Amino acid sequence: MDNKKNIYLAPLEGVTDSIFRNTFNKCYGGIDKYYTPFISPNSTFKFTTREFKDIDPEKNDINTTVPQLLTNNAEHFLWAVHEIAALGFKEINFNLGCPSGTVVAKKKGSGLLYYTEDLDKMLDEIFAGLKDDVQISIKTRLGKLEPEEFYEILDIYNKYPISELTIHPRVQMEFYREPIHPEFFEYALEHSKAHLVFNGEIKTKDDIENTFSKYAGINAIMIGRGLISNPELAITYKNGQETTPLDLNKFKLFHNDLLAQYIEILSGEKPVLHRMKEFLVYWESNFPDDAKAIKKIRKSNNLNEYKTLTEALFQ
Ligand SMILES: Cc1cc2nc3c(=O)[nH]c(=O)nc-3n(C[C@H](O)[C@H](O)[C@H](O)COP(=O)(O)O)c2cc1C
Repeated sequence: MDNKKNIYLAPLEGVTDSIFRNTFNKCYGGIDKYYTPFISPNSTFKFTTREFKDIDPEKNDINTTVPQLLTNNAEHFLWAVHEIAALGFKEINFNLGCPSGTVVAKKKGSGLLYYTEDLDKMLDEIFAGLKDDVQISIKTRLGKLEPEEFYEILDIYNKYPISELTIHPRVQMEFYREPIHPEFFEYALEHSKAHLVFNGEIKTKDDIENTFSKYAGINAIMIGRGLISNPELAITYKNGQETTPLDLNKFKLFHNDLLAQYIEILSGEKPVLHRMKEFLVYWESNFPDDAKAIKKIRKSNNLNEYKTLTEALFQ
C-alpha cells in the first residue's frame, strides 16, 4: 500500500453524509480524506442541527474528515473555521466550485470566481484573519463562463497559503457535462504554488492509474460519482488488486447497513426510500442486465417492497 498515492472522497450534497462516509469506511475504506458536503455559515453564526450532526466529532474521524464551507463572506467563514477547529478538525475546505444556479446567483461557489476582486479580497481577509491552527484548502472550477478565466484565478490563489487546491477542470456553465479541460490542469501543474488534487470523471482503476501517471507531480486525486457507483474502486487501487465485478455479498452488507441506519434516523418510510433511491442513481450501473428490476425498485413506495426487490437484485 505504501507506494500508492492518496484518494479523497468528493463531497456530494444529499449523498455523502456522515452515515454514508462512516459506513463506506467500515465496509470498504481505501480513502485518505472524506470531504463533507458544504455547510453554509451565515449571519446567524449558528450551524443548523443538520449541519452540526454532519460534522459532529463523535460521528466523524477528525483526522480524515474535512468539513467544507460555502459562503462569500469572510467574517462568516472565519466564524465557522473557529468553531470547526475547536472541534479538532485539521483542515477546512472552501467551496469555489458549486455550479448550482441558486448558489451562483448569490455569488457563491463557482459564482464567486467571476468576481475576481471580491474573490481576492475574501481570501485576503480569510488568511489575514485566520487565528486557528487549521489548514485551509480550496476546491475550485476553472471559472464561470470560459476556462481562460482560470489564468487570473490561479494568480489570485498563488498569493495565499492554500494547503491543497482541488481542481475540477470545468467552468460553472458546464455543470457536470463533458468534456473536461485537462490542459488547464496541466497549466496549473506548472504554475500553482499549492499542492494540486485532480477531480473529475475518474471511474475505473485504469483512470486512477492513468491520472497519476499523466500528472506525475500530484499526490492525490478526488473521486465522487465513480466511488459511489463502485465503492471497491479505491481499495482495489490501494491493494494493487485486479478489477473484478462488484462483490455482491459485500455490497449487500454495505447497502443493508446504510438502510438500517437511515431507517433509524429518518422518520417515516418515504424519506428512507428517497434517500436510498438517491444512491440507486449511482449504483444502477453495476446492474446493466437488470434494468427492469431497477425500474421496479425506483417505483417501490414502501420499505417491504423495496427490501424484497433489492434482496432479489443482490442474489
Ligand atoms: C449531486 C451532487 C452534489 C454535489 N455536492 C457537492 C458539494 O456539496 N460540495 C462540492 O464541493 N462539490 C459537490 N459536488 C461536486 C463533486 O464533489 C465533484 O466535484 C463532481 O461530482 C465531479 O467529480 P466526479 O466526476 O468524480 O464525480 C456535487 C456533485 C453532485 C453530482
